[in-house]
Amino acid sequence: MKTIATPAGMQAWSRDRQADGKRIACVPTMGFLHDGHLSLVRRARELADGVVLTLFVNPTQFGPGEDFAAYPRDAARDLDLCRRHGVDAVFMPADESMYLPDHSIYIAEESLSGTLCGASRPGHFRGVCTVVAKLFNCVLPQVAVFGQKDAQQIAIIRRMVRDLNFPVEIAVAPTVREPDGLAMSSRNARLDADSRKSALGLSRALREAACAYAAGTRDSAAVLAQMRTTMERAGLRVDYAAAVDALTLKPVAALADGVLLAVAAFAGGVRLIDNQVL
Ligand code: PAF
Repeated sequence: MKTIATPAGMQAWSRDRQADGKRIACVPTMGFLHDGHLSLVRRARELADGVVLTLFVNPTQFGPGEDFAAYPRDAARDLDLCRRHGVDAVFMPADESMYLPDHSIYIAEESLSGTLCGASRPGHFRGVCTVVAKLFNCVLPQVAVFGQKDAQQIAIIRRMVRDLNFPVEIAVAPTVREPDGLAMSSRNARLDADSRKSALGLSRALREAACAYAAGTRDSAAVLAQMRTTMERAGLRVDYAAAVDALTLKPVAALADGVLLAVAAFAGGVRLIDNQVL
C-alpha cells in the first residue's frame, strides 16, 4: 500500500494506473476509521481496480466553536486498517498542501445546503464541497463511495458533480450500525457512558417512525413530534427531526415511500446525525 502526501504525487499515481486501463475508486474520509468506512472500502473494491482512501480532517468544514481540534485522529491505526483491508493507496495531505496560505476559491452549493445540518452549521457544506472537489482533482477517480449516514452530504455532492460536470460516479453504501442500533461514526469515540446511552435515542426515534409508517401513519408532523419526544426522553438535545424529499431535501407533509427521515442531536457535547429512507 502506498502512502501519498502531495496532490501532485496523488495525481501521478492515479494517472499511471489509468494509463494501464485501471479504474480508480476514491473513499473520502476524515480518518479514525470504523466498520462503516471499511464497508465503503469493500464497496469501492467491487466498483474499481484500485482503491484510494483519503485521510484528511478538513478544517474548512468546521465552524468556529465546532470540534475540529477535538476530532479524533489516529493515523497509525488508520493506515494499519487500510493495509489489512486492501486499500491500494492512502492520500493523507498536510493541511498546508491542501490549503495554501492565500487559498481563496471555495465551492458553495446554494440550494440544498441551507437546510438540515446546513441550517445549524453555516459554511459546513461549502467546506465539504470545496474539499471533495479538491480530493477529486487529486485522486482523479472514476467513482467515489460515500455512506448513507451523510444523506444530505450525498445529495449535495451529487448536485456538485452534476452542476460542475465532474466525471465521477457517486456510489452510496448503507449505514453500518453497532449491534444496539447506533450508527457508526468517528465521533462516537467522544461519547462518555451516559452520552453513549442517550445516543441510542436517534436510531430509536427513526425505528419508531418507520414502524408508525408501516402501520399506516402518514402525517409527518405527528411522526416528527414523536421522534423529538423520543430523543428528548433519551436525554438528547435535539437539533432537528425532519421528513424531506431525499433529492430536493424539501419538507414533506405526508410520509411516503422514499421519504428521508433525518435527525441530528447532541449527546453530551457531541453532535450526531442519522437517517432512514422510508
Ligand atoms: O464525510 C466525511 O467524512 C467528510 O465530510 C468528507 C466527505 C471526507 C469531506 O471532508
